[in-house]
Amino acid sequence: EDPRIHGIKTRIRVVPDFPKPGIMFQDITTLLLDPKAFKDTVDLFVERYKGKDISVVAGIEARGFIFGPPIALAIGAKFVPLRKPRKLPGKVISEEYVLEYGTDCLEMHVGAVDPGDRALVVDDLIATGGTLCAAMKLLERVGAEVVECACVIELPDLKGRERLNGKPLYILVESH
Ligand code: PRP
Ligand code: MG
Repeated sequence: EDPRIHGIKTRIRVVPDFPKPGIMFQDITTLLLDPKAFKDTVDLFVERYKGKDISVVAGIEARGFIFGPPIALAIGAKFVPLRKPRKLPGKVISEEYVLEYGTDCLEMHVGAVDPGDRALVVDDLIATGGTLCAAMKLLERVGAEVVECACVIELPDLKGRERLNGKPLYILVESH
């Protein structure tokens, strides 16, 4: 394991019973307070993806907007925000996904991603995998190839990886 991973792990604050009883919330705001750990996080992704011909980094609102843009800049890819409903002003395509209670939705501007684009999907965390799954569908609907999904944290007990239809997922930290 890369020696930088340990420092990243120790900067993620786990908050029990937030936002509701039984949830162990993985708080990355404490990671952001440590410039070395934040930079190490971005660097690990950049080292993996530079030279891989990625043309678009798609970041998922909200926490994917923190890690996606520095990766996109460093590898020379465009950044495309995948947003919660009714935030984007232009023509959009939408994908609904199921939450524990009810549904949510991600939207992407039409024309932001083209057929033949090679996409990296970035978020802070995979839990059930529903969010990443919806993100991949948006990209594939417009003809992009999703090369990989990248998250800082995986909650492997929730088996979200199994919902990604075999698409590779790269993570830095597992939390049980
Ligand atoms: C959290 C997290 C991921 C998603 C993972 O975001 O940042 O995006 O849940 O869950 P899943 O794998 O079960 O789909 P959330 O929707 O809470 O919102 P935020 O990023 O806007 O805070
Ligand atoms: Mg999120």
